[in-house]
Amino acid sequence: MRANVFFIFIFGALGGLLFGFDTGIISGASPLIEQNFQLSVEQTGFITSSVLIGSTIGAFAVGPLSDRFGRKKLLIVSAIFFIAGSLLTAIAVGFVSMVFARIVLGLAVGAASALTPAYLAELAPAEHRGSLGTMFQLMITAGILLAYVSNLAFLNHNLLGVRDWRWMLASALIPAILLFVGGLVLPESPRYLFARGDHEDARKVLVRLRQDKPEDVDIELKEMKEIENQPKGGLKDLLTVAKPAVIVAVGIMFFQQLVGINSVIYFLPQVFIKGFGFDPSQAIWISIGIGIVNFVVTILATMIMDKFNRRVLLMFGSVVMTAALGILTILNYTLSVQQAAIPTMLLIATYIFGFAISWGPIAWLLIGEIFPVSVRGVGSSIGSAANWIGNFVVSQFFLVLLAVFNNNVGGPFGIFAIFSFLSFFFVKYLVPETRGKSLEEIEMELRKQK
Ligand code: BGC
Repeated sequence: MRANVFFIFIFGALGGLLFGFDTGIISGASPLIEQNFQLSVEQTGFITSSVLIGSTIGAFAVGPLSDRFGRKKLLIVSAIFFIAGSLLTAIAVGFVSMVFARIVLGLAVGAASALTPAYLAELAPAEHRGSLGTMFQLMITAGILLAYVSNLAFLNHNLLGVRDWRWMLASALIPAILLFVGGLVLPESPRYLFARGDHEDARKVLVRLRQDKPEDVDIELKEMKEIENQPKGGLKDLLTVAKPAVIVAVGIMFFQQLVGINSVIYFLPQVFIKGFGFDPSQAIWISIGIGIVNFVVTILATMIMDKFNRRVLLMFGSVVMTAALGILTILNYTLSVQQAAIPTMLLIATYIFGFAISWGPIAWLLIGEIFPVSVRGVGSSIGSAANWIGNFVVSQFFLVLLAVFNNNVGGPFGIFAIFSFLSFFFVKYLVPETRGKSLEEIEMELRKQK
């Protein structure tokens, strides 16, 4: 693929970088904010989760708007929210202003998470859609890693007399501005343009995107034409033709969160401090290690995504996660805390491998692929909102759960092992295969199911 075309996908996926950064940064910044504003533990917890409340709202709201006004315009709007939110968090003066700022940021994160998968899927050629769609997850993991690094870099450095945590939060402005600039130059989705009746513009964008295989332009336009003639019922489609897709999107997203990924991404330092008596300065390095594994395995995922069926990868991931978490649970109930620490670390790395190669990227890929074009925006919004709700539940209850099990990590991770096990059967019985098919073929298969 030509470099200029590839850049479109990188810029298109930049929302993922902010998603990862803004959710990852708070693990390092929140103890500092707590101390600076003299907050209670509950208030600090609420600062962490307020972004998730905003994301749920942002994800829900953006879908219908993007089906109406297009993907590109809404990406620009979400970039503006990212800029405003990042600025407001960095200059917050107390609990209320911080919560408000985090909600604004959340609106942007949620919007970007619902828009980007559909946008990338609509731009990509069928045979590379897996890899190109995985760019979103790659950006998320890069954002998380950058956040951990920024936490480490700014900690105890009050440059120019400005507190460390303000620098941490302000550093999100750089990718936010990049997304805004990117948004201005990115093309509108050809499938959105076509569905709106702008056939000529759809062709122009496709010609630009398919410079390597110009012969595909006419084939793709023809497929879009066939879909155009299908009966459409507006939002009612969600309860009729698109109903199986809604079930898959919501299920895949709930499972993606209920396997407990963010107990590791957001709380790992606390797990090692509370569960194994580690020093906070050691614990941050463990997060960096996990962040690197997560990122590197996601690079691998981009390389293999179009070579293996999505279903196979998902089931493989479920098996790896179930095994790693299952063994971790048994060890933590049979060995002493000292003996269990290192094996726990290795098993968490294995679990991250299982997630990053499969459920991490594929959940987001699928919500961009499985909906008919008429309700693709709103459909991926529903999937994305389900993800944020699942995330909120896990993040709210994880530390409580850890305390209930007397700080034995085997407790909460045992529960996540059960969800990993169940996720296998969800995929086996309900998730359709989408690899290598055009979005129009996927839509026709869905229509036949009715
Ligand atoms: C999930 C996030 C998670 C991230 C970790 C994403 O796919 O939706 O909740 O923090 O992966 O890499």
